[in-house]
Amino acid sequence: KNLGLIFDLDGVIVDTAKFHFLAWKKAAKEVGFELTEELNEKLKGVSRVDSLNKILGWAGATVSEEKFNEMATNKNADYLTYVDKMTADDILPGVEAFIRKAKSKGYPIALGSASKNAPKILKHVGIYDLFDAIVDGNSVSKAKPDPEVFVIAAQKLNVPVANCVVFEDSEAGVEAANNTHMLSIGLGSEDVLSEADHVFPDFTKITLEFIEQQANKK
Ligand code: G6P
Ligand code: MG
Repeated sequence: KNLGLIFDLDGVIVDTAKFHFLAWKKAAKEVGFELTEELNEKLKGVSRVDSLNKILGWAGATVSEEKFNEMATNKNADYLTYVDKMTADDILPGVEAFIRKAKSKGYPIALGSASKNAPKILKHVGIYDLFDAIVDGNSVSKAKPDPEVFVIAAQKLNVPVANCVVFEDSEAGVEAANNTHMLSIGLGSEDVLSEADHVFPDFTKITLEFIEQQANKK
């Protein structure tokens, strides 16, 4: 099969999931809510606006539209102070080598992320040019677990949806990949990502040969 490889950004390519968590934790405090790591799993892969709506729901808080926008803006400003300090060292172990190997074998590579900051972050850590297509929070209307982001990525790569492999660290993202019958590879803990076809702690444990085998079987 001519495979298309689609990568989520936060928590898959770069170690930014922890920065989103810190920034949301601070925002949640403002409405008297203590955001735990466990609940934070429900925010991974979820857009900025939807994330804030979830937090306000958990907190049982209602805010004006103005306050809502202010909270979202402040969260992003906070998040970007961490992003500004990032370097190539914040690229997660093994992922860049994996992408380069896949490219050398001719597989097209896409980004499929809910983040509006995706292009900025990829440029910041110097790997923007590795991608044949970028689909991010600026170009999708339906959030994960809707598969729209991955379906558009497949179209941009000119690869059938059924030939695509998705790499994800979030429950919502794995669900999105499964919803469109792409091979889903979870990065992180088995407990959180039990719905994924396969789960690995990080890219140092994944070989391209294994992915090719699994994708060709599917
Ligand atoms: C990714 C992250 C989420 C984040 C979302 C929007 O999906 O996993 O934690 O909320 O992108 O990111 P943004 O950078 O646009 O606020
Ligand atoms: Mg992610």
